[in-house]
Amino acid sequence: MKHTDIKALFESPEEFIGKTVTVCGWVRTSAEVKPMAFIQLNDGTTVTRNLQLTIHQEKMTEEDFRVNYRPMMTLGCSLKATGIIVASERNIIEMETTDITLLGDCPADYPLQKKRASEEFLRTIPHLRTRTNKMKACMSIRSCLAYAVHDYFHKNGYTYIHTPIITDSDCEGAGEMFRITTQPWNAPEKTEKEYFENDFFGKKAGLSVSCQLEGEMAACGGMGRIYTFGPTFRAEKSGTTRHVAEFWHVEPEVCFADIHDIIEIAEDFIKYIIRYAMVHCEDELSFCDKFIEKGLLDKLNNVVSSDFAQLDYTDAIGILQKSGKKFEYPVTWGCDLQSEHERYLTDEYFRKPVFLINYPKDIKSFYMKQNPDGKTVAATDLLVPGIGEIIGCSERETDMEKLVSAMTSRNMPLESYANYLDTRKFGTVEHSGFGLGFDRLVMYVTGIGNIRDVLQFPRTYKHIY
Ligand code: 4AD
Ligand code: MG
Repeated sequence: MKHTDIKALFESPEEFIGKTVTVCGWVRTSAEVKPMAFIQLNDGTTVTRNLQLTIHQEKMTEEDFRVNYRPMMTLGCSLKATGIIVASERNIIEMETTDITLLGDCPADYPLQKKRASEEFLRTIPHLRTRTNKMKACMSIRSCLAYAVHDYFHKNGYTYIHTPIITDSDCEGAGEMFRITTQPWNAPEKTEKEYFENDFFGKKAGLSVSCQLEGEMAACGGMGRIYTFGPTFRAEKSGTTRHVAEFWHVEPEVCFADIHDIIEIAEDFIKYIIRYAMVHCEDELSFCDKFIEKGLLDKLNNVVSSDFAQLDYTDAIGILQKSGKKFEYPVTWGCDLQSEHERYLTDEYFRKPVFLINYPKDIKSFYMKQNPDGKTVAATDLLVPGIGEIIGCSERETDMEKLVSAMTSRNMPLESYANYLDTRKFGTVEHSGFGLGFDRLVMYVTGIGNIRDVLQFPRTYKHIY
């Protein structure tokens, strides 16, 4: 269907004024103010910029208007309209409509009526909530940030690799892997061993929680600098506003880089992609600043123009203990920080993103490089105000003995990790990497408070729409 994007009309109105064009779209609102009628049309190429179609009732019979125009004024229906573009003080441009065709009507049970629907309700209609301004703005910013992720790594000499989603290794070791199977629920096998032997892969398999181990094998396997960007899966039975069962994960792995190098890269990367969105999604971010998080643009400006804080885990414990705050969970050295603790550090103490470094080794994963103190690891989480952790990052352990002992103390089956361990055998190198929770970044950049609202089809515990 040959037509012009509404976005193109607004981008260079002077090129179109006085010309006849055809547009397509969905009716956002309409009004009859005799002798005129107005329709606001949106085709998905803009967020809030609708094209006003102006209809002159006086130029037609009442019958003509009733039959050929009024049905096109129904909220939610789709149209194709042709007319002349004219300048307008209020709307920049409008269309003096000469011809309208109804593409698809929209019956009265259309769930997006004028009254604002609740977020909970909108989540039950993922196929329609993309017609709301908020979701459209979010989806466009999300798309732009994803593009910026690739742009950053390509400009900096990383190879984009595709790692498997189906795996038999649990990178984070937290027992949060989804299992995949083709066995029937009433399989006749008597033991677990027998059950998995007869399963599709002949062993227990699941969905990857992180592409890191494959990423390390690719980087150390001679590629040097790689990144992955795809969905990963966690069966966390958690109903928080920042956990989903299927999330998008950006994971670079960099050889010849220690923890300080990777922290520098992570900060540079985050600033680059936010700056990219600020340049390419100006309208969408202004919309978010106005309707989602007041002060969002100032926040983002601050983030890209000032240094992130860095704080040792041990010093963070000191700050939290001296804060005088009543936390629900007590703070002692060695504890895993709860979101109330992270919130205090980011929202009240620093008021900006913070890299928390050198965590106790017992609360972190097996692959992290052990520090000389014997108690901590060269790992950092990037915490941001309002959300908490968006990046998990570390230098990787390259000492085979230490690595193997960290794995055996966690009861990991070494035989499943033979290839991974080989990376420490055949020309091992210092290397580091991180994982960015992309959906959490989208929350941070848009100001949207619930991760379920930055994904069109969120998957969470007990919910799959
Ligand atoms: O901190 P995590 O578990 O780190 C890893 O998986 C490392 N293997 C990454 C690496 O070094 N390559 O997860 C990384 C990030 C978290 O900081 C968080 O932003 C996000 O992934 N994340 C989730 N996002 C949404 N829903 C969930 N259930 C998430 N779990 C982790
Ligand atoms: Mg983490």
